Amino acid sequence: MSGPLVVRTLPETRAACDGARARGLDVAFVPTMGALHDGHLALVKEGRRRARFVVCSIFVNPTQFGPNEDFARYPRDLEGDVRKLGDLVDVVFAPRLEDMYPGEERTRVRVGGLTDHLCGPHRPGHFEGVTTIVTKLFSVVGPCTAIFGKKDYQQLAVLRRMTADLLLPIEVVGHPILREADGLAMSSRNVYLSSDERARALSLSRGLAAAQRAFAAGERGAGALRRLAESEIAPRVTSVDYVTVADADALVPLEEDAKTPGRVLLAVACRVGRTRLIDNVVLGEDAPLSTAG
Ligand code: PAJ
Repeated sequence: MSGPLVVRTLPETRAACDGARARGLDVAFVPTMGALHDGHLALVKEGRRRARFVVCSIFVNPTQFGPNEDFARYPRDLEGDVRKLGDLVDVVFAPRLEDMYPGEERTRVRVGGLTDHLCGPHRPGHFEGVTTIVTKLFSVVGPCTAIFGKKDYQQLAVLRRMTADLLLPIEVVGHPILREADGLAMSSRNVYLSSDERARALSLSRGLAAAQRAFAAGERGAGALRRLAESEIAPRVTSVDYVTVADADALVPLEEDAKTPGRVLLAVACRVGRTRLIDNVVLGEDAPLSTAG
């Protein structure tokens, strides 16, 4: 139990990854913003299954937060995170702000189309911040595999597209959502929730599960499935950003009167108190959500 190598600088990180490659090891990479939970650790374990050298980055990326979002108060606990990672990773890359954004850069990476709906309009600039930082992290680490969670379904789709479009030689792997026993999707932001808010936040997974049951029973009306989820969620949360049934690949919402295909995304974003929560299920693909507990 020596623990991972914690590296703060870009040259040291490049050297560690170059060293691994020189020894013939393939490199898997899990980018995170820290405040790690079992969802993050599941991605890291998936990295370990797929590669012999695993890098996890921890960087709270300012460019993906809007001016009224929670960048300043986002939970930070590098020491605790390194402890949780234990021997699951070889390198923890925790860069400094001034190294990732020296100030003179004029480049942003933007993926069109896939960012037009769902979280895109609600978080202007968010995905551009994500794609820009992930491109930079990829260029430092040089992984052959990168693992992202389906919890951030749109982010995963955008990063897959970006990787393909920029001809990056990286396999992007999507990992299923990890949930608490009662169904709540794990999130670093769950620590913000009071016990009352935590109870109300359960309406997200319950709403998705209700739609999932209806879909399994044969319901194919996009509007009916959407409204079923919404009727469970809307009365319990502070505000709804969206509850949307969308094409699972193009991420374009279906019309209310449309019939869904055999595989379709149902995604939700809302606020419980001041905390913004997201969740989703791919109807016709994901295993039934367990909302017991
Ligand atoms: P963060 O929110 O820390 O999430 C890091 C990775 O963990 C993402 O791929 C996310 O989808 C995954 N993840 C979070 N909760 C999960 C859960 N309950 N089950 C499965 N996977 C889960 O996403 C980001 O950071 C950032 O945008 C980042 C990609 C690091 C760029 O800054």
